[in-house]
Order: sequence, then structure tokens, then C-alpha cells
Amino acid sequence: MAEIAIGIDLGTSTSCVALSRQRKVEVLLNSFGEAVSASVVAFRADGTVVVGNAAKANIIHEPRHTVHSAKRLIGRYFFSEELRKAQAVCSYEIVEGPNHSVRIKIREEQFSLPEISAMVLKEMKSIAEANLGEPVSKAVITVPAYFNDNQRQATRDAGRIAGLEVLRLLNEPTAAALSYGFGRSVNQKVAVYDLGGGTFDISILEIGQDVYEVLATCGDTFLGGEDFDDRLIDLLAEEFLAQEGVNPRKDPYALEKLKVAAESAKKALSMDDEVEIRIPDVITGSDGRPRAIVRRLDCAEYTALVADLVQRTFKVCDEALQQAGLLAGQLDGVILVGGPTRLPLIRRAVAEYFGQTPKVDVDPDQAVAMGAAIHAATLVGSTEGSVLLDVTPLSLRIGVAGGLAETVIERNTPVPIEQTRVFTTFEDFQEAVRIRIYQGESRSADQNELLGQFTFSGFRRADRGQVRIEVTFEIDTDGIVNVTAREPETGQQASTQITLSSGLSPAQLDAIIAEGKADRVRSEAPVARAPAAPGPARAAARPGAAAMPAAPPSASTSDELEVLPDDAFDLEVDEEFEVVPGNVRVAAREPLEPEALDLMPEGTDLRDLPGPGAAPGAGAPGAPSDVDDLFGDMDDLDGPPDDDAS
Ligand SMILES: Nc1ncnc2c1ncn2[C@@H]1O[C@H](COP(=O)(O)OP(=O)(O)OP(=O)(O)O)[C@@H](O)[C@H]1O
Ligand SMILES: [Mg+2]
Repeated sequence: MAEIAIGIDLGTSTSCVALSRQRKVEVLLNSFGEAVSASVVAFRADGTVVVGNAAKANIIHEPRHTVHSAKRLIGRYFFSEELRKAQAVCSYEIVEGPNHSVRIKIREEQFSLPEISAMVLKEMKSIAEANLGEPVSKAVITVPAYFNDNQRQATRDAGRIAGLEVLRLLNEPTAAALSYGFGRSVNQKVAVYDLGGGTFDISILEIGQDVYEVLATCGDTFLGGEDFDDRLIDLLAEEFLAQEGVNPRKDPYALEKLKVAAESAKKALSMDDEVEIRIPDVITGSDGRPRAIVRRLDCAEYTALVADLVQRTFKVCDEALQQAGLLAGQLDGVILVGGPTRLPLIRRAVAEYFGQTPKVDVDPDQAVAMGAAIHAATLVGSTEGSVLLDVTPLSLRIGVAGGLAETVIERNTPVPIEQTRVFTTFEDFQEAVRIRIYQGESRSADQNELLGQFTFSGFRRADRGQVRIEVTFEIDTDGIVNVTAREPETGQQASTQITLSSGLSPAQLDAIIAEGKADRVRSEAPVARAPAAPGPARAAARPGAAAMPAAPPSASTSDELEVLPDDAFDLEVDEEFEVVPGNVRVAAREPLEPEALDLMPEGTDLRDLPGPGAAPGAGAPGAPSDVDDLFGDMDDLDGPPDDDAS
């Protein structure tokens, strides 16, 4: 019998699990018969945990012990800008963990973000097991295409904590495209416009002959339906403050009531032109009387409230089309994914932007999970599969002297990929180099996300520019980065391979798994076998389908910080690197160190450099213009200048 592997769409707001077998794909319903479950985790006083729509209903009663939108925080640093934004609208307590990581504090206990997401995954796993009547241990989990390495690693850790073998991390728009093409013979260039609860992705794909080739992908990992809700919450809160003299945002119970009202008003506006917002008891006044909000809201006012957010999605679309080398008019179709795309205001704007009516043949809530299931079945060899050719969303860079970040792999390069670049020492008689790896589109190192760093030493001491250090970057099909450094001169080899860490060290991850916190998840209702999902599931004979061999599950795990030293070299791995969580902008808290550990690209014209020792501070954060002056012609060494955002 073929192995079972499920597909899970781990969403910011909702999650969905699906299974593909015998050329059919079905969404597995939860015990309430629902296709999607809220990605909300409620911690009860007795220590048990409830996940899903029942947990969401609990938010207004227990806002401080109910965690939602964890995906907005996963793989991020405590002092990141995104964390500040999330904190402003979250009633649960977000605290700083070791090495600037993010932890959620519930009563006296702290949880890492992968642990919270693991609880959602665990619930999805349970839903699948209840439907299938047997244990499920393998899954494809989707991630926003624009997720960086830190966010991907953390998601993979979450899968492990939930007791799942993560066969693949699949980009959400690619999954949706798979679901769109499943069972039909299409030869098309399509755009997948995926506006979810917390993230926006746009991918341009060419589908043909069972090959799904991503031509370009762009996104924003902090833009979604929840930001729409925040706009309305702000409006309601300001009006309430002006009228009652009390800021309801300061009260966690009132804030959650505003949130519920804002979301239901938004959903109502996907069907009606006008809604009435009514919250009878926002807050109880000092006189003991409840204070209410009652107000009408129409589509025009709502559109004005969120117009700039919608506009932001099209800026991202501009970029994706440009990267794909296509005009909107050259696309054969536009596929809408994500709850907010049900809003007429979004449908109209998308139709106008792309000059065509978006397709309605995929279910915006289920297509991603279904695509993940289709791919999962292929990976365990239970169905014939399609070939997926995806890309890396962000440029991969290495930090060099002057606070700069040199591109090693350009964004939108097909993955898997391996690329080697040669660097050299920056100072005379330099003993070590610090290799810093970034993702992002800026030449200024501190404007990118730091993925990790390590120190490489043990090479011959020589004049600057004389020691060659080959740095090899690999991005695998999950979009996960590996880096190897090598000093080849003497013919002896030394290399260190780093699997960058999401913020949980191997020991921490093992401890978490051993502790079994994810096992606290209790399903609310007795679980019964649910009927197969109706609707969009399509059975498919795939004419001429090219079978894709089942890929073995990824052997590496995110917790590795592997050092493969050669005896001839003294290789060091920075301890501090081991627990670096995601998305740091180093400038914020960690000024670059003096240049004693700097690298520079091989072939840099030494006449353009300051004398040894003159550089300290040149690359310090906040001095990007000096830096540009200093290394202004460095681009010339590498061919065309970077396509930098900053
Ligand atoms: N009918 C509707 N009209 C407008 N918005 C809706 C509707 N239904 C759901 N939404 C909104 O869609 C969002 C959730 O969408 P979805 O489930 O696609 O996101 P997600 O997959 O959880 O998030 P992401 O993909 O960003 O991680 C929420 O903000 C929700 O309020
Ligand atoms: Mg989604």
C-alpha cells in the first residue's frame, strides 16, 4: 500500500489539511465538519491546549492566554520592526528569549514560535488521522514564497516538534498553481495573487506538460487581511476615544472585541455594500454602564481605509512582472488565493491591474493545502507527479568590508542551486575572517536580514588580498541555505558547513521534542470520520503525465550546526551564531565589529581601499553613504551593478 503523506497549509489566520490519493485530492474536514481551522492556540488553566475555531472563539474571554497570528512572528528577532507591529495588536504577552529571540509568555511558561506553530500542525495531523483512521507522520508544509531562510527553518522545526517528517516546504503560490493545473492539461503563463491573513505573495508561473516553472516570485511577509482589520480597529478606537475619552486598545478584552467586529465587517463587505458594526459593551464606564460602538460602514469608506495596502500589493506585482520579463497583458490567467481575495474591492483592483477577470476555478481557502497534498503524494510515490521548478525569493549575500553585502545568488534564481565566490582577507596578516550571510536586496549589509555568521581561521598569514577563501552557497528545494567556506591554497582542504539556525539550537529542539508540549493539544469535540470534502476536489487522469521520481525526504534537519573540520586547519564556529533567530537588522543592536575579520571580494582594486587599520567605522551602520564612496566601483568587479532596493 502506498505511503500516506498529507499537505498542510499552515496559515497566519487559518490552516487546512488535504490528502491526495488515487488521483483525487480531498480536503480533510475537522471534527466540526469545517474545511479550515483557525490557526489559534488557546492555553487552558489546566495546562491543556485547544487549537482551531473553538480556540478563536475563546479570544474575547481569555485574550492573554490565546495566541493567534504566530506566523507573523516566526523566524523574527525580538527587536525587529515586524515584532513591534505585532505587539501593538496582540493581547498575549510577547517577551524576549535568549539571543534576541521571540517567546510567548503564557502564565509562567514561555513558548518559542516553532512550539506554537507545532501545536497548530499537531491539530492538522490529528484531523488527518481522525479522517484516515491511521497514524500520519509525513507532510508537505507550505510557506509564503517570500519567507526567508530563518522563517523556513523555524517552520521546519515546528513540523518536527509536531511529530511530522517534513518532506518538503512548498511555496504557497506554487502549491495553488499545482492545484489549479491538477487534472487538466494547461499550457499557460499565470499569476498567482495570494493575499492571506498575514502575508502577500505573487508568483508568475509557466505551466505546461506537467512542468510548473516559477518565473518570478515577490512578496511581503507582513501584509494581509489582518492589516485590513487593524485599519478598521484604529478607526473605531479613535472614534471611541474621541467620544468616550477612553482608549479601547489599552484593554485587551475591548481590543479583541474590536478585532472580532472589524473582521466580521470586512467579511460582510465581501457580500454586501454596507454593514452595521455593533459592539454593545466595548468597555464598562466608571458609572457601571457599558459603552457601545454602533456605526455603519460602506464599501467606499472601507476601500479608502485600505487603499494604500491594496496598492502595496500591486507594487509587489510590478516587481514580479519585471523580474519575469513579462507584461500583465501577456499572462493567460490570474489565480486568486487567500480569504481577502473574496472582497469585491480586491477582485476589481486585480482585474484592473492585470487587465483581465481573475479565474474562479480554485477555492481561495483550500487550493494551497490541496496543492501541498498533490505534491506530498508525488514525494511518497503514491501518484505520478509534476515537475516543480521554483526560485529563491531573496538575493543571498555575504558581508564584506565597509558594511557592504555582496550578492552571491540573485533573487529569482531557480533552486536548487550552488554558487561559489572567492573572497580574500581585508587586512595584512589577518588571522581570521568572519563570514556573515544575509538575505535581501540592499548593498548595505545592515539593511538585509542576517541569517547567520561564523568565523573562519587557520589560513596562512599574508598581505591582504593574498589569501583566497572560497565560499560556497547552496539553496535547496525547500529554499533553505547552506554555506561552506574553504581555503584551497595549499592543496589541503578545510571546510565548514553550516546549516543556519532558526533560533533553536539542536539541544533546545531535542529538549522541546522530549518535553512533548505539542502533545497537550486536545481536540474539543469527539472526532469522527468526516466525509470527503465536496466542491473543488478534482479527480484527474493526467494524460501524458511525466512521472517524477519520489524524492527522498530531506535528510538534513534545521538544527544542525555541522562542522566538518579538516585536521590541517583550525576552524571555528561562533557560539553566538548557534542560536541566532531570524530577521535581524544588525544595525539596530549589533554594530559591526572592527574590520579585523573582514572579507573583500577577490580582485578588489587595492588602490581604492583605505590603508589597513584606516577602515574601522567605515562600515558602521548608519554610514551607508561613506561606504558607497569607499567602494563605489566595487560593482565593476562583478559585472552589472546590483538591482538593489535601497
Ligand atoms: N469572505 C471574506 N471576505 C474578506 N475577507 C475574508 C473573507 N473570509 C476570510 N477573510 C479574511 O481572510 C484572511 C484569512 O485568509 P487565509 O485563510 O487565506 O489566510 P492564511 O492562509 O491564514 O494567511 P497567510 O497565507 O497570510 O499565512 C483573514 O484576514 C480573514 O479575515
Ligand atoms: Mg494562506
